[in-house]
Amino acid sequence: MSIIAERLDRISPSQTIAIATKARALKAAGRDVISLSAGEPDFDTPQFIKDAAIAAIQAGETKYTDVAGTLALRRAVAEKFRRDSGLDYTPDEIIVSTGGKQVIFNAMLATLNAGDEVIIPTPCWVSYPDIVSLAEGKPVFVPCGQNNGFKLRAEDLEAAITPRSKWFLLNNPSNPTGAAYSAAELRPICDVLLRHPDVWIFTDDIYEKLAYDGFRPATVVEVEPRLRERTVTMNGCSKAYAMTGWRIGFAGAPKALTKAMDKLQSQSTSNASSISQAAALAGLTGPQDFIGEMVAVYHERRDLVVDMLNQAPGISCHKPEGAFYVFPSMRGCIGKTTAKGAKITDDESFVIALLDEEGVACVHGAAFMYPGHFRISYATDTASLREACSRIQRFCRGLV
Ligand SMILES: Cc1ncc(COP(=O)(O)O)c(C=O)c1O
Repeated sequence: MSIIAERLDRISPSQTIAIATKARALKAAGRDVISLSAGEPDFDTPQFIKDAAIAAIQAGETKYTDVAGTLALRRAVAEKFRRDSGLDYTPDEIIVSTGGKQVIFNAMLATLNAGDEVIIPTPCWVSYPDIVSLAEGKPVFVPCGQNNGFKLRAEDLEAAITPRSKWFLLNNPSNPTGAAYSAAELRPICDVLLRHPDVWIFTDDIYEKLAYDGFRPATVVEVEPRLRERTVTMNGCSKAYAMTGWRIGFAGAPKALTKAMDKLQSQSTSNASSISQAAALAGLTGPQDFIGEMVAVYHERRDLVVDMLNQAPGISCHKPEGAFYVFPSMRGCIGKTTAKGAKITDDESFVIALLDEEGVACVHGAAFMYPGHFRISYATDTASLREACSRIQRFCRGLV
């Protein structure tokens, strides 16, 4: 009898691990590898946030806090939602967790019964299907084509809704495509949701601050306040404040659901780290101008990467509105052979050959439930990005 529980059979190990392992092995062997596979800012956490954490340690803020987070931080999160999106949440409608990821876990585990369906537009973040499956739910994928900027069409959402649909999970802006929805683009989606009162909405807005050309991603409840009582608005510090390692995510949600998530969290991790909470409080309430500086750098890099990729034969790269990813199609390379004799049969063989032959690590599209593409994270320095894109161009030009 296996020691491993059957529930683990429902999930797969992260598809990004194989490529990351290979990249590390090549690096260890002395190869010059540029990794474009990381899902985190290359910027350091701002100094004033680090200082707040150090001050919290010195002041003895080293004890358990309320499970849902300190009152000061929950007030700051409520104020963030008000300031940025005009949303009105009281502190008892806010939960702070160990990363945005735990908020998703909390919400799914607290609500899904076996076989309940969760509608997930694809391409989607690698963890959504596995979190849903662990919670015994059934992911229902709705493909969103590059020809529509990888955005969900209202009619496709409507067609995916069944009597078993419990959640609709939206990621705006998106990992892996960078696609983001304005208020006008969310309107028809909200109209569909208004017609289906049993479907709850989970909106993962963790990349909210990272948008370019003046684009402002909107969030569901600001567009349609009548959906408030069945929406979880998730956000966090990882991306906007370059705080991935601190593990602070949060959400605003109706009181009863917040309480259920609090109950679950009380029996798993309890509160998020008290030190990280103090840091997050400083981040949310302190000066916000460094976000604009970071966004300006990402903006330049996005334009550089999209331009250079579109000069590579067989590659077609859509220019997205936000996040720090692009998700080019590599379909034009399928069926070809590389300069060193490897056969490109799909997105996975493409990224493996690219890593082997040019030392550039990306993630294949199938990891995001969307083959025929690959993901590039441009959260890396501009010189490395330029070099990586030149190598991709050379790799593609060498295909026969
Ligand atoms: C779409 C999306 N949601 C949530 C997360 C989780 O963020 P956190 O680090 O706050 O757990 C990530 C991290 O990569 C992400 O890409």
